[in-house]
Amino acid sequence: MRKDKKVHIQTFGCQMNVSDSERMLQLLSGIGYHHVDNWKEADLLILNTCSVRSKAEEKIYSILSTIKGKLKRNSGLIIGVGGCVAQQEGEKLLKMAPHLNFVCGTHNIHLLPQMVKEAEAGKRVSDTAFIDNEMRFDLFPKEYQATGVSHLVTIMQGCDNYCSYCIVPYVRGREASRQAEDILAEIKSVASKGVREVILLGQNVNSYNLGAGSANFPALLTKVAEIDNIERIRFVTSHPKDISSELVNSFSTVKKLCSHIHLPVQAGSNRVLAMMNRGYSREEYLLKIEQLKKARPGISVTSDIIVGFPGETEEDFKETLALVEEVGYSDSYCFVYSPRPETKAAEMPDPVPKDEKQERLERLLELQRGLSKTHNMSLEGSVQKVLVEGSGGKTGQISGRTSGNRIVNFPGSAELVGNFVDVKIIRGYQNSLLGELVS
Ligand code: SAH
Ligand code: SF4
Ligand code: F3S
Repeated sequence: MRKDKKVHIQTFGCQMNVSDSERMLQLLSGIGYHHVDNWKEADLLILNTCSVRSKAEEKIYSILSTIKGKLKRNSGLIIGVGGCVAQQEGEKLLKMAPHLNFVCGTHNIHLLPQMVKEAEAGKRVSDTAFIDNEMRFDLFPKEYQATGVSHLVTIMQGCDNYCSYCIVPYVRGREASRQAEDILAEIKSVASKGVREVILLGQNVNSYNLGAGSANFPALLTKVAEIDNIERIRFVTSHPKDISSELVNSFSTVKKLCSHIHLPVQAGSNRVLAMMNRGYSREEYLLKIEQLKKARPGISVTSDIIVGFPGETEEDFKETLALVEEVGYSDSYCFVYSPRPETKAAEMPDPVPKDEKQERLERLLELQRGLSKTHNMSLEGSVQKVLVEGSGGKTGQISGRTSGNRIVNFPGSAELVGNFVDVKIIRGYQNSLLGELVS
């Protein structure tokens, strides 16, 4: 076996895909592949894809076509598609792109080494079969590599919520939790390799429900907090309907839990929330925010928001604006609604013109830009504990994150990477903070 084969993975979409790509690299290193930054140098190219909005999906087709144009004759490059577009389209992708060698579904990452070997032998393969909930996590690696100071840990996968606009339940399958002892073993292992922060991952982490003594998510958080060398715990994504009072309380009792929660509201109008099948009202959402702010004063709250859901009126949209202002999000990811295959919302009448949706998005983005800046400016003069992650925006600068998940750039030496330092915030910009080391 050649030992020096090169792979390039291009990752799209959410942190689950980032974590899956790490798992892919680890599995591929077992068959002699190491990562390179440029696909043109690679023997194997994998696109780990996202299909949450149609633009994300279309991007993959456009990249595949660009690659085809650039491919030298008999280059021998093996090309694979993984992630949510692979799951959604399966074998059809092989028909559509004759230069594609394999399609690997979201539940089939463990098969990757085998698929690559078959592709090396000249076969074209696709596997997108879902794996039973009980089996899914048994197929995870037993030993984990740690690549930085922060490590993504999958604690559950899949989603049973079926929000009417969302493709995720179809491409990630049913909700399943991973055994607490396996999660804790992974975290202990990476903690011994220099990791200081873990990000617990799942499409819906609040639904976590497995393992002796860790029957639910708040109990799991307590267990994770007991692990030496792990000083920060984050989690994504939470569903507002599943934020229990116990989880709110964790923000008072679990000191290692960071002062940040990503709690996607999606819309501010009860009419739209009901059409979205979100399972909470505006009032219930705001009450949870109030409780979280009480449990952890100064907590930074971020959100995802969909603009122009089918039938959203100007009045509905104004309720979204008012909610965004009331919560005072430190950041939010705002997108125009995109109809997705198989979803209920794709069948709903949608009389709002495209331009109007775009105009609403601009208004929302402008509001959020102001709120982000206000939030960041409110930190000016404060001293923040920062976990240094790497080099900063400018030469001579390093950068890291506050507990509230704000990025801080400050002058300092690269030797500090991986350490916690105290940084005084000099200036709050829209997307980041500028600081100086406190000696
Ligand atoms: N599990 C997470 C989010 C997963 S998808 C949660 O429940 O919040 C990430 C984000 O993509 C969603 O929060 C939503 O804001 C956005 N999204 C999902 N489907 C979409 C669609 N059809 N059009 C536009 N945005 C969408
Ligand atoms: Fe999609 Fe809703 Fe599930 Fe989130 S909770 S992944 S938005 S269906
Ligand atoms: Fe995209 Fe799949 Fe994540 S659709 S957002 S990569 S779960």
